[in-house]
Amino acid sequence: MKVLLIGSGGREHAIAWKLSQSILVNKIFCAPGNGGTATEEKCENVNITNNEELLKFAIDNSIDVTVVGPEAPLCEGIVDSFSEKGLKIFGPCAAGAQLEGSKIFSKNFMKKYNINTAAYDTFTHADEAIQYLETCKFPVVLKADGLAAGKGVIIAQDYNEAKIAIEELMISDILRGAGKSVVIEEFLQGVEASILAITDGETIIPFVSSKDHKAIYDGNLGPNTGGMGTLAPNPYCTEKVLQDFKDKIMYPTLQGLQKENIQYKGIIFFGLMITKDNVYLLEYNVRMGDPETQVVLPLMESDFMELIMSTIDGNLSSKTVSFKDEFACCVIAASKGYPGTYEVGKEINIANNSSEKVFIAGGKISNSKLLSSGGRVLGVTALGKSIEEARKNAYVGINNIDFEGIYFRGDIGI
Ligand code: AMP
Ligand code: GLY
Repeated sequence: MKVLLIGSGGREHAIAWKLSQSILVNKIFCAPGNGGTATEEKCENVNITNNEELLKFAIDNSIDVTVVGPEAPLCEGIVDSFSEKGLKIFGPCAAGAQLEGSKIFSKNFMKKYNINTAAYDTFTHADEAIQYLETCKFPVVLKADGLAAGKGVIIAQDYNEAKIAIEELMISDILRGAGKSVVIEEFLQGVEASILAITDGETIIPFVSSKDHKAIYDGNLGPNTGGMGTLAPNPYCTEKVLQDFKDKIMYPTLQGLQKENIQYKGIIFFGLMITKDNVYLLEYNVRMGDPETQVVLPLMESDFMELIMSTIDGNLSSKTVSFKDEFACCVIAASKGYPGTYEVGKEINIANNSSEKVFIAGGKISNSKLLSSGGRVLGVTALGKSIEEARKNAYVGINNIDFEGIYFRGDIGI
């Protein structure tokens, strides 16, 4: 099969690496891909990012299946336009992608289908939102309605902080449209977990759980990032938590989609908060997580391409998904200054690594050299029989890598 894989991050490198291991796959075109996908077996980068050009490429090159990595093309309706032309594509239609594309849609959906989530209200006028703050307990969570590349959630510690954030989002419009409407919700205290699940709209199967480390500094301090490292399985996802998740969140989500007549085929990412006595859904994403994918796929024993095809063809019920009985840890190396401003173009040196896998995120090949090109530059994933072993192996790997200004957390997996 010829595959077109859309995206350019560490997640897409991990997807390309996993799909290249499938006997079903002969060739993977990565659009646009990165310095990691460029050197992966069976892979070739093609410099296309526009949805119409991607459709033309798929037709002209007789692509058998397209796999969409990031959320933006899904929210723009790429699955609908490929499907209209009879092309196979993995991911939800635009109606399904609203679960991530609009926080108001997703919170209202959770409420309608009795899915455990934080109490909230929605606002389209700044003065009403500010007035509402007078009734809130602090901290409070403010969420821009639209896609904001990880910058749309603000945890405000007091009234003044919240008021300023609302003014910035709704009046100054710092997110260029995405913050014109907001959700204000109750702050939940607990530990977070990410669970990806695959669904063909009839059957839904959860993957192994994982734990992201969002803050930039050790001890979960400093501003949030796209994710500085992951561990899987998530040690806080006990049997009881997983059962509650399935009963109170995962199955009600699938039933809700069916009742709304949304034919959802693809991945649903459940962002969870595990509190003292309950499991809450913080958010949906309609694609795989980054860097969750970099620990979930290395643990997956099943053929991912086979699962993707079963999903598109609507026969996922005939499949099981199996994972290694091990732990995986991924440590992200970022450019100095990230998530603020940072420099790119630094040469990346990777010493011989054995058991670890390096997934490139913001890295490109130029004149046969691998150069940094983004905030999160790469991630090193390693497996182990225990959390400690997986962590140790991942840190051996990351210490074998060097580029000017390299920064990584020292406590991923703790
Ligand atoms: P979201 O995009 O909704 O997952 O929010 C991004 C991050 O903000 C989450 O991963 C949490 O760290 C934090 N967050 C979101 N909602 C809440 C909440 N209700 N209580 C506490 N933290 C939250
Ligand atoms: N790591 C969180 C996300 O992919 O949204």
